[in-house]
Amino acid sequence: MPAKIEIGPARAADAQVLAEMSRRLVEVGLPWSWTPARITRHLAHAESLVLSARAGEQVAGFAIMHFGEEVAHLNLLAVDTQYQRRGIGQRLLAWLEESAVTAGVFLICLEVRSRNPSAIRFYRNRGYQEAGRLPRYYSGREDAIRMTRDLRHPESRRTVLPAPSAAASGTLAGADWILTKFKR
Ligand SMILES: CC(C)(COP(=O)(O)OP(=O)(O)OC[C@H]1O[C@@H](n2cnc3c(N)ncnc32)[C@H](O)[C@@H]1OP(=O)(O)O)[C@@H](O)C(=O)NCCC(=O)NCCS
Repeated sequence: MPAKIEIGPARAADAQVLAEMSRRLVEVGLPWSWTPARITRHLAHAESLVLSARAGEQVAGFAIMHFGEEVAHLNLLAVDTQYQRRGIGQRLLAWLEESAVTAGVFLICLEVRSRNPSAIRFYRNRGYQEAGRLPRYYSGREDAIRMTRDLRHPESRRTVLPAPSAAASGTLAGADWILTKFKR
């Protein structure tokens, strides 16, 4: 397994791999909604940011965020099982949060499956608060927990990332890129 993880914008050619990861890691037991075509649309959309974390040519994790005028919606975040608990998820999330701040959007919103306590804990530990329950949100089969984080709150920005290690050395080098992409 390559030691170095590189985080950055995903490639158009990644759509199939990301969609399969969504089905395997996020949408288990639900109809497949994050299809390659849907991910391709986000990859091309001016107001979406699709990140990948790569271990060599392999995609270890990815995240998709859609930027509205006032709210950024975290659509998907997933790290492949063999790469979990190495800091990749929090680095992807931190990159998206920095991008939101750079774009002038301070409220992040997401939905997570109610039967996914480890993901709920992951977000809670990063300053996200539960903002409600959406009954049968997922194909009428499972509730969602809505979580939000207001990046203007100093309390909520206290996340401390682990020092970059050989295991996850992605940097927050996206600011220039995001300024170009989301210039208003
Ligand atoms: C939720 C998810 C994205 C987290 O990704 P991850 O890469 O494992 O997350 P991280 O490694 O950054 O952090 C996970 C935990 O491992 C810890 N950790 C990070 N590096 C570590 C290391 N080297 N050794 C031990 N623990 C470590 C983190 O502190 C964190 O613990 P905490 O939440 O109690 O603070 C991942 O588990 C996943 O893809 N799950 C399936 C899909 C899913 O549920 N997605 C979210 C809903 S869309």
